[in-house]
Amino acid sequence: MCHRHRKLAVAAETAGGEGAGAADEVGNVTIPANATKRISASHKRMTNPESVQAPPEPLLFDQIDVIDIGCARGVWPREVAAKLGSSTTCVGLELRSELVKAANAEAVDAGTDKHLRFRAMNCKSEAHWDALFEGRTESSSSTGVSFVAIQFPDPWAKARHLRRRLVDPEFAALTLKRLRPKYLYLSSDRQDLFEEMVSVYAEVLDGMGMRPKSVVDAQEGESEVDREVLKNLAANSDLDAKDGALTYDNVSLEGVTCRPVYLHCHPLGIGTERDLVCEHLHRKVNRALFVLEQQN
Ligand SMILES: C[S@@+](CC[C@H](N)C(=O)[O-])C[C@H]1O[C@@H](n2cnc3c(N)ncnc32)[C@H](O)[C@@H]1O
Repeated sequence: MCHRHRKLAVAAETAGGEGAGAADEVGNVTIPANATKRISASHKRMTNPESVQAPPEPLLFDQIDVIDIGCARGVWPREVAAKLGSSTTCVGLELRSELVKAANAEAVDAGTDKHLRFRAMNCKSEAHWDALFEGRTESSSSTGVSFVAIQFPDPWAKARHLRRRLVDPEFAALTLKRLRPKYLYLSSDRQDLFEEMVSVYAEVLDGMGMRPKSVVDAQEGESEVDREVLKNLAANSDLDAKDGALTYDNVSLEGVTCRPVYLHCHPLGIGTERDLVCEHLHRKVNRALFVLEQQN
């Protein structure tokens, strides 16, 4: 058990003895005392994407290595930036501007803002992506983003909220066109929504003529991200051998060439805040990684 998980376990034990509704803030994750079935309230809070009108400030990094779409407080990009070092540029995008403001201030205080930035935007808005990448030079726009993560996007489960869901075919096309990822990672503890996300991306990838790349070939790039992904995929194969490879019957990929690999563990070896809550609650997390040919 790593130090974060150990702290979580201890907190859960302590919180378990307190009255319902009491909460402990440990390792940046809020665990409610009555956390047996609940995901923490801060993770459930949802902002209507259409209410976020102000475009983001431009992002002037030449190269972006990791983008986390819907990063909430930015804990995951911060930890990835710390793990992969200053040669890896990480960006967190989030609807809630107050979280982004705090995450940027923390990066400035920690002296990591040269390679770690956050922006408040509605990632479903094409105009917001235009604003984010305004002023990028031709050379900086010609390379894709190495690793794009969409982790536990808000469910918006009700039919009348369908339009607010993050992943739909338009959003998938927008992100693939703008970011041209080498690795596209999707996760959710809602299996139905996970299967929907994977199916949507697989079909859109195929429709755009994007090609899968073998994981071994991806090694050629040899960036910090490549090295980390390969290390964690090897760990995943060990788990496949032990527990069996994961499959999803409801993801219909007939005739589709762009298939993901399903993973037991995170491909960058660091879980998000929600991953930790799920681990604590013993909720299964569904994970898929598309490894893609990067097109210029
Ligand atoms: C359930 S939280 C998950 C946070 C984090 N990824 C994790 O795994 O702990 C989903 C986050 O996605 C953000 N989000 C949802 N729709 C978005 C959109 N259209 N643009 C940007 N962020 C969005 C929400 O505001 C929320 O912070």
